[in-house]
Amino acid sequence: MESAIPPQLSVPRVRHPRVPDDYEPRFPSFVARHRTSVRRLVMAYLGTQEGRSPAWLDAAMNAPDGPRHHDRAVPAWPEPGGPRDVVAVGYWDDTAAFDRWFTRHREAWLSGGAGDGRWVEVVRPAIERYETIFGRRSRPEGVAVLAAGFSGPVREHGYWGGMRDRMPASQVDPLHDPGPVDVERRGDRVRVRPRGSVCLIRSGQDWTDSGGQERRAYLGEIEPALREGMEFLRDRGRGVGCLANRYLRVVDAAGRPTDRSYGVGWWRSLADLERWSESHPTHLAIFSAFGRLAAARRDGLELRLYHEVAVANPDEQWFEYVDCHPRTGLLAVAD
Ligand code: HEM
Repeated sequence: MESAIPPQLSVPRVRHPRVPDDYEPRFPSFVARHRTSVRRLVMAYLGTQEGRSPAWLDAAMNAPDGPRHHDRAVPAWPEPGGPRDVVAVGYWDDTAAFDRWFTRHREAWLSGGAGDGRWVEVVRPAIERYETIFGRRSRPEGVAVLAAGFSGPVREHGYWGGMRDRMPASQVDPLHDPGPVDVERRGDRVRVRPRGSVCLIRSGQDWTDSGGQERRAYLGEIEPALREGMEFLRDRGRGVGCLANRYLRVVDAAGRPTDRSYGVGWWRSLADLERWSESHPTHLAIFSAFGRLAAARRDGLELRLYHEVAVANPDEQWFEYVDCHPRTGLLAVAD
């Protein structure tokens, strides 16, 4: 059993993990392992409300200094009459390449919408303030595509608080400095500047390989609970510390939906995200529907679950919106 915190990021603890040293989880899970030279990651979400993914977006993502990996998604359940968003997320582990790319492409992206909403939401957390968890160690998704590989089974999961214990900074840092949100409006541009850290979670589901009873149970029981949880966070999340939430379906290069989805949420703090996941009826409903399926399939599930979480300081964030629907991303908090 390994620690999720790699040796080079392990420091003498002044803050204790939630479980004793001899704790062993009941089922295996894995984390992404990056090259030791990687000090920082960049996760850049680019979105448009025009309902189609402009060729420009693909060209920019594939341009020199572009992300080492990106994917594209649309709302899993579009709101009737609501905007038809397209969201692309790119990942870098070379911040100098990202800076050059952002300087070249940010303005072109934001000014290219001709009245249709566009936005960028970027964080660049230090490697110490980021963690992942995967149920399987094949087919990496999201930021894990950049990793050198997966760990062996890790100790810090299978209990509430595992997310924090996997994050190297939690050995010495409470990871808690939320602050008010400033808004700068200039013409059609809105910059949203949180004065404290914000927490990002991308929590993904892949039912590509689930067949028969497992597929029916996923689509018939787990997914409806997931949808309810995601709609709660989108519509009423502010009351529990969720600044914004999207529930998205990954699409292929031709824009066709795949059997992969993810929820992406911006949270006021890691503590708020912890509290929602361990206590709110919507995540507990998701969790218990999953538990029933896992118990019924003792030989293991084909369903793949993963997440990536980052806590970014104010100078590691960039939120900018043009001509967007007022409920887009952190604009909802600004209002
Ligand atoms: C943790 C189930 C979706 C937030 C967990 C765990 C399970 C689970 C089993 C414990 C993992 C472990 O430590 O071994 C599910 C299922 C989902 C789903 C079946 C969808 C089908 C989501 C979404 C979010 C979320 C969309 C957030 C937007 C969390 C968080 C934790 C967690 C923050 C970590 C709690 C901690 O370690 O303190 N979930 N989840 N989950 N889930 Fe979910």
